[in-house]
Amino acid sequence: MTIPEVVLNDGYKLPKVGLGTYQLRGGIGYHQIISAIRDGYRSIDSATNYDNEGIVGQAIRDSGVPRDQIFVSSKLPGKYHHYDDALNAIRESLARMGLDYFDLYLIHWPLPKRGLYVEAWQALVTAQKLGLIKSIGVSNFEPEHLDKIISETGVTPSVNQIEIHPYWVNDQRVKENAKRGIVTEAWSPLGRGSSALTEPIVKKLAEKYNKNAGQILLRWHIQRGIVPLPKSTNLDHQRSNLDIFDFELTNDEIKAINTLDREDGRIDGQDPNEYEEFE
Ligand code: A2P
Repeated sequence: MTIPEVVLNDGYKLPKVGLGTYQLRGGIGYHQIISAIRDGYRSIDSATNYDNEGIVGQAIRDSGVPRDQIFVSSKLPGKYHHYDDALNAIRESLARMGLDYFDLYLIHWPLPKRGLYVEAWQALVTAQKLGLIKSIGVSNFEPEHLDKIISETGVTPSVNQIEIHPYWVNDQRVKENAKRGIVTEAWSPLGRGSSALTEPIVKKLAEKYNKNAGQILLRWHIQRGIVPLPKSTNLDHQRSNLDIFDFELTNDEIKAINTLDREDGRIDGQDPNEYEEFE
């Protein structure tokens, strides 16, 4: 199965769906990731804070798929926002993965109260020039954080990975990213296995299109121009989460899913302006 791609603002191509690897760890995680790659995943999203860069890299190296055909992402933890720390952390991430370069590296959280994300961004810009990273981006950045790094460095992120699922539709931030030429990736695109998957509207659409609930929600992301990164430990779910390019929801159906949006819909209440991740 060939996964369609979106072209980023730096010219590199990102597969339109990727595997989230939060909590995929150890020997079991290794097998889950390697089977995902063998089933057709060509984008794998990790983070230093997921404590799995070692097995993610090992699975990629052992998969038999050439390195240049897999889009590998990881993320910088909050404790390394100082410029020198960030550069060292990127090299450490690569060493743990056993890879020479990342396709994408993101600042995991902006930590605006700490006020070092511009420094961290400068380190990503340098790492890109050194060839350690092809595309550089951010995660959980609010529009004002985007504007600050763009105005202070002249470099626009290629990607902003944010929380999006039916209880947190996040339309405004998706539009703000698009306005700046930034592709939006969604973390926890299925609402982390919450009741979003059993909402009556989702079940109804699953029946109509002869798809499962996860596929309906992933299609909802795709048609909004968002790149979802569903996580699954279940090999059947993993496979089905790639099989989302042969049907189309109507605009009214997309709007019907949008009505599930909630004021307090964030999974863990993580407001990027408040959330402090110093580990
Ligand atoms: P499982 O590991 O058993 O597949 P998110 O990516 O939003 O964090 O959601 C991950 C959760 O969604 C996991 O609990 C995962 O469970 C579940 N999940 C992933 N894909 C599907 C699917 N196609 N149908 C139902 N549940 C899914």
